[in-house]
Amino acid sequence: MSENKQFSSLSESKQGSWSGKFAFILAATGSAVGLGNIWKFPYITGENGGGAFVLVYLLCIAGIGIPIMMAEIMLGRRGHENPVNTMEDLARQEGASKQWKMLGWMGITAGIMIFSYYSVIAGWALSYFFDALRGVFSGITAELADHHFSGLLGSWTSLLGWHSVFTIMTIVIVARGVRGGLEKAVTILMPALFVMLILMVGYAMQNGEFKKAVNFMFSPDFSQLSGAAVLTAMGHAFFTLSLGMGAIMAYGAYLPKNVSIGATTITIALADTIVALLAGLAIFPIVFSHGLEPSSGPGLIFTTLPIAFGDMPYGSLFAGIFFLLLVFAALSSAISLIEPAVARLTEKRDISRVGATWLVGGLSWLLGIGSVLSFNLLSDDKLAGKTFFDWMDYLTSNIMLPLGGMLIAIFAGWVMQQKSSRDELAMNQLAYTLWLFLTRFIAPLAVFLVLLKVSGVLDAVTG
Ligand code: TRP
Repeated sequence: MSENKQFSSLSESKQGSWSGKFAFILAATGSAVGLGNIWKFPYITGENGGGAFVLVYLLCIAGIGIPIMMAEIMLGRRGHENPVNTMEDLARQEGASKQWKMLGWMGITAGIMIFSYYSVIAGWALSYFFDALRGVFSGITAELADHHFSGLLGSWTSLLGWHSVFTIMTIVIVARGVRGGLEKAVTILMPALFVMLILMVGYAMQNGEFKKAVNFMFSPDFSQLSGAAVLTAMGHAFFTLSLGMGAIMAYGAYLPKNVSIGATTITIALADTIVALLAGLAIFPIVFSHGLEPSSGPGLIFTTLPIAFGDMPYGSLFAGIFFLLLVFAALSSAISLIEPAVARLTEKRDISRVGATWLVGGLSWLLGIGSVLSFNLLSDDKLAGKTFFDWMDYLTSNIMLPLGGMLIAIFAGWVMQQKSSRDELAMNQLAYTLWLFLTRFIAPLAVFLVLLKVSGVLDAVTG
């Protein structure tokens, strides 16, 4: 159980050095930047009509995501343990009900559910990495790119194979418990991904319908915005910042006491948002110049980016680099999805870290088979219009993460004494008041109203 404690006292003893703060920012940014930014953001933006959706998403990041991320880091730094025990301990300290630990359990469950399909999508990226190396994308047309992607989805054996490979890669890293290697690698890989994205935006500016894409992404047309779209935008704010399930709480224990939670949070949220917007600006110009559908769904980046790579000089090399970087971005996110579950198991049960990781990873792998089959054998088996994969994504991003985030905000804003939070956040009076206001009122109320609206209760009440 003292793994986190040791780690944090280690970083505290090095107070004043950059390493503690830097290690935290790296780990948290590594968790935040992932498939959510590059795969999910563009396709849900396309599905939900563009500008108005992006605006709501940005507002949710600023008004809900940032204050809740601060709250989650703060709880983690005070609690120093896995989310279940952290919530239990903090609730005891504040004289509140022990049942707050259920928040930790919901987070652990959400993490396992997300990891189950996350590794299926990361598997697509792995498969595309090897395709790029074989030169499959060189000179590829829009039609062939679509055909190639459908071919991958159609083969459940390939999908299962790649899903297994990615799951095992994640398990091996988490089981070793030392993420130092990966985190060091992320110092180079993350900026590299950033540079690749800039290059791809450059290509899209010259060769795609860039103006049209900018218009699509940034001029809001509110007639396009449904209640469901608002929920998706809000849910994605949680998903992309890794909020609402205890991942950032677990990482918060690594943060030295003297580091400003506000400033680090804003750095992470900004980096995360910029990556997502760049991905959109790389993809939509190509979508429009090739007459593709922005709303084509989860395959969007896999059917558009190969066209760009296929057309540029050294395209196969760039494609290879890009998909490899995407796999690494996914890995540094994936470890944070199962870490809380593994930490809880090793701290409370008589089981080794290796055993716990294989158990959690194995469970998630099994669940992931449902998502593998959602793209082929079971693609027509829908419940209320959604496949198994759709349901996993919907339940986690749109329900569990916002609910978890709302409870975190309520705990940090109402249950925890202001003396504690003021002390922990150590901000000037104005910033603290703003945080408290957002955390007490805006964030929980916004989540509550959106959930109520989508569940139909609000319409029933207001007629
Ligand atoms: N934020 C990651 C992404 O955008 C996904 C992720 C990692 C996540 N850890 C999380 C989402 C915890 C929710 C909760 O790809």
